[in-house]
Amino acid sequence: MATLEIHDLHVSVETENGPREILRGVDLTVKQGETHAIMGPNGSGKSTLAYSLAGHPKYTVTSGTVTLDGEDVLAMTVDERARAGVFLAMQYPVEVPGVSVSNFLRTSATAIRGEAPKLRTWVKEVKGAMERLSIDPAFAERNVNEGFSGGEKKRHEILQLELLKPRIAILDETDSGLDVDALRVVSEGVNRVAESGEVGTLLITHYTRILRYIKPDHVHVFANGRIAESGGPELADKLENEGYEAYVKGGATA
Ligand SMILES: Nc1ncnc2c1ncn2[C@@H]1O[C@H](COP(=O)(O)OP(=O)(O)OP(=O)(O)O)[C@@H](O)[C@H]1O
Ligand SMILES: [Mg+2]
Repeated sequence: MATLEIHDLHVSVETENGPREILRGVDLTVKQGETHAIMGPNGSGKSTLAYSLAGHPKYTVTSGTVTLDGEDVLAMTVDERARAGVFLAMQYPVEVPGVSVSNFLRTSATAIRGEAPKLRTWVKEVKGAMERLSIDPAFAERNVNEGFSGGEKKRHEILQLELLKPRIAILDETDSGLDVDALRVVSEGVNRVAESGEVGTLLITHYTRILRYIKPDHVHVFANGRIAESGGPELADKLENEGYEAYVKGGATA
């Protein structure tokens, strides 16, 4: 069973005034088949954690370890991480001009599966996944994220999730900016992948409304660059009612 283990992770980002530590000792274990929700105030470092796991070059790991099934993730390139099964749905998905959704998906699937998917089954696979996510087939020929609305970008992220079948899926605020119907469609997509039991999901969110559709096994409060408290789904309700004040007292991130 695949296990992502993060131990005492410290991450800095280069700023005009020198390096600034954002992550300050993150400990987290995510096993295949589990869903973990991460909630926390703006600027607490949630996206930094997501990017660091995916291997974004802007973030420097200064200490700590990240392993997937015992393999050192931090020693892997971005591509190797993707092939190892680490998937990131970004908070702000980027445009890829000149690359169609259809080409992008096929190239990604080829890279991750190690061979080009058979065209006939692939076309069916993509069509089915797009239908399930209520994505207009015309999107296949549009350039990735170019001119997509916020909600369309998020759906496209989940389309990738469904087709690439990662072992660890990091979803950074995939729910933000979605209307109620899109929230349901996107959540159903996440659940379909989760129900396979083959993915461990790290769901970064601000709102408990997505947790009505996606049931986390564990909820973590992220504050000041580390996990301040962990619990079950009831912790999310507590946060909704009481906010994060109890966790951020005594130190802003700066
Ligand atoms: N490249 C950078 N240069 C300077 N500061 C940065 C950089 N990247 C991140 N930070 C800072 O790191 C802190 C954490 O940012 P991060 O995006 O991880 O927060 P977050 O928890 O995802 O917030 P939100 O809930 O608003 O998405 C912020 O104070 C942010 O300004
Ligand atoms: Mg963020």
